Amino acid sequence: MSDGIAVLVPGGAGQLGRELAALAGDGVLVRAPGCATLDLTQAGAVVEAVTALVDEARAAGLAPVVVNAAAYTAVDDAETHRARAFAVNADGPRVLAAACSSRGVPLIHVSTDYVFPGDGTRPYEVDDPVGPRSVYGQTKLAGEEAVLGSGARAWVVRTAWVYGAFGRNFVRTMIRLAGSDDPVSVVDDQRGSPTWTADLARGLLELARRVSTGAAPDTRLLHCTGTGETTWYGLARAVFEELGADPSRVRPCTTDEFPRPAPRPAYSVLSNKTWQAAGLTPLPDWRSALATAFPSLV
Ligand SMILES: NC(=O)c1ccc[n+]([C@@H]2O[C@H](COP(=O)([O-])OP(=O)(O)OC[C@H]3O[C@@H](n4cnc5c(N)ncnc54)[C@H](OP(=O)(O)O)[C@@H]3O)[C@@H](O)[C@H]2O)c1
Repeated sequence: MSDGIAVLVPGGAGQLGRELAALAGDGVLVRAPGCATLDLTQAGAVVEAVTALVDEARAAGLAPVVVNAAAYTAVDDAETHRARAFAVNADGPRVLAAACSSRGVPLIHVSTDYVFPGDGTRPYEVDDPVGPRSVYGQTKLAGEEAVLGSGARAWVVRTAWVYGAFGRNFVRTMIRLAGSDDPVSVVDDQRGSPTWTADLARGLLELARRVSTGAAPDTRLLHCTGTGETTWYGLARAVFEELGADPSRVRPCTTDEFPRPAPRPAYSVLSNKTWQAAGLTPLPDWRSALATAFPSLV
C-alpha cells in the first residue's frame, strides 16, 4: 500500500465538504457525496458507502478514512426541529462510527465550539467542561459522545466560525451587505476565531494522513481553528477593509439588540494547544487567512 489515502466525506456538498473535495489529488482520493446520495440517517446507505470506500481503497492501494462533514447546521431552526437535528448530528454519526468500527476504518468527526457554554474568559481546552446552551450544541455534543464511545478508531475535531467560498456564511453575507450604502450593525460582544474552510480542510487531511500511517495523535479530541481571535464586528470590519470599503460603515452592537431563537456563546475561542502538541500544523492567523481567502470569496 502507498502512503496515499482514500477519503469518504459525508456532507460533501456543504461548505467544508466541497473544500475537502477540492483537495483531491497528490495521493488523496476523495469521495464526497451530498446528502441526496449519502444520507447519514439511512443506516443501510451508510454501511454501503463505507464498504464501497474500503473496496475502492483496497483496489487502489490506498488507506481508507472517513471525514464526516455532514451536519444539521441550521442553529436557530434546530430549536424547533429538535428530532431532525438529533437524527443528523447524533444518530447519524453513531451509525457512521459503527460502520467504520466494523470495517476497521478510522473516522474523523467534525464538531463545534457550541458544545461549550460560552461564558469562558480564556480559550477552551479540549477537556474543559462542556455545557451547550442551544439544541444544536446539544446535538453536536451527543454526536461527539456517540463517536468517541463507539469503539471505532475515531477523532473528534471541534472548529468554529467557519467561512469559505462555498455556501452561506458570515463573511459572504458581509461582502453582500458592503455592496449597499447602508450602515451595517454587527455584534461586538461575541468572541471567536474565524476559520477558513481551506485551512481547516488541509488540517483535517493532515490528520487523516496521520491516522492512516500509524502516527495518530493519542488525544481523540482536538480543536482546530484559525489562530487568534476577534468579534463578529472585528471580522466584519476586516471584510470591509479587504473590499476597500469604508470600515466605519460597520457599527458595533450587542447580542441583546439582535435576539435569535438559539442563544449564541459569548466566548467561543478554542485552544489549539492539543492540535499543536500532536505535531499538527497550526492554522494561520485568522486575519492573514482572510486576506489569502479573499480572492476566492468575491
Ligand atoms: N459553519 C460553521 O460556522 C461551523 C462552526 C463550527 C463547527 N461547524 C461544523 O463543521 C462541519 C461542517 O459544517 P459546514 O459549515 O460545512 O456546514 P454546511 O455547509 O451546512 O454543510 C453540512 C452538509 O451536511 C449535509 N447534511 C445535512 N443533513 C444530512 C444528512 N442527514 N446526511 C448527510 N448529509 C447531511 C447538508 O446538506 P443539505 O444542505 O442538503 O441539508 C450540508 O451539505 C459540521 O460538523 C458543523 O457542525 C461548522
